[in-house]
Amino acid sequence: MSSKRFTIFGDPVEHSISPRMHTFAIEGLGLDATYTKTRLEGACRLRTIFLESFDGANVTVPHKEAAFGQCDEVRGIAKEIGAVNTLINEEGNMIGYNTDAEGFYRSLQDFGEIKSALILGAGGTAKAISYILKQKGISVTLLNRSAKRLESFEGFKTYDWEHYKSSYHDIIINTTSAGLLEETLPAPESIMIDLFSHCKYAIDVIYNIETPFLKKAKTFQLPVKDGADMLLYQGVLAFALFYHDRFTFEEILPFMKKAFSPS
Ligand SMILES: NC(=O)c1ccc[n+]([C@@H]2O[C@H](COP(=O)([O-])OP(=O)(O)OC[C@H]3O[C@@H](n4cnc5c(N)ncnc54)[C@H](OP(=O)(O)O)[C@@H]3O)[C@@H](O)[C@H]2O)c1
Repeated sequence: MSSKRFTIFGDPVEHSISPRMHTFAIEGLGLDATYTKTRLEGACRLRTIFLESFDGANVTVPHKEAAFGQCDEVRGIAKEIGAVNTLINEEGNMIGYNTDAEGFYRSLQDFGEIKSALILGAGGTAKAISYILKQKGISVTLLNRSAKRLESFEGFKTYDWEHYKSSYHDIIINTTSAGLLEETLPAPESIMIDLFSHCKYAIDVIYNIETPFLKKAKTFQLPVKDGADMLLYQGVLAFALFYHDRFTFEEILPFMKKAFSPS
């Protein structure tokens, strides 16, 4: 069998931990494959480059929606989300999947039962998470800084900050990038206090740093977690797709997990 070639498409892509995660899995499972980074400023040549050179790929910011539009076929929940983060080359056809959604859902397994969720933000990650939670029977409300992006969340309860109404949710999920580069909360402090006073758990999709969102949630004695498991699990699910389910989630997981330990 010939050596397989995988990559991650994005811009920027230098910081991505995906090559490290996938390389640990390739080596750990004794496979003949490489996983590289491909920085693409625009996405217009993504499909051509992918089909000419790769067996599988991941897609990160800002190309997930463009990659969706270039697929020959999109499978699973990615069809509803409108964005793909995993590509498979099936005999010259580009097949798209979204493993961010299932990866996030699996990361909730450390918490107790969840029936209702409030998502902060209305970008691509909020979309993936809202659709998977809805599919799993969880009631979803979205709260965003501005109204515009909420328009694409048809069938969900949505509020912008100005029209926020207090109510109970089992979990508060931060999908905004607030806290990534500056010490800011994802909504005004009065709203955050109200949200954390009426919930059981809090999760941030940002990983590696303790955001102001997580710090604040802890002051309410809430069980919290960051986005590291979401990132890990979406990678495991993508790897399983790369190898057409030859390896189970549990077989891949311990190798990929090593990428999160200091080298
Ligand atoms: N752990 C993982 O595996 C994983 C996977 C994917 C993404 N992520 C993380 O998820 C985050 C969001 O990514 P995305 O692609 O969904 O972003 P995006 O599409 O650009 O959406 C950003 C959203 O955040 C809101 N926002 C941005 N800055 C804000 C601020 N200072 N205060 C309040 N709201 C703010 C925006 O509101 P407006 O509409 O008002 O502009 C928008 O709704 C990033 O930090 C990314 O690193 C993590």
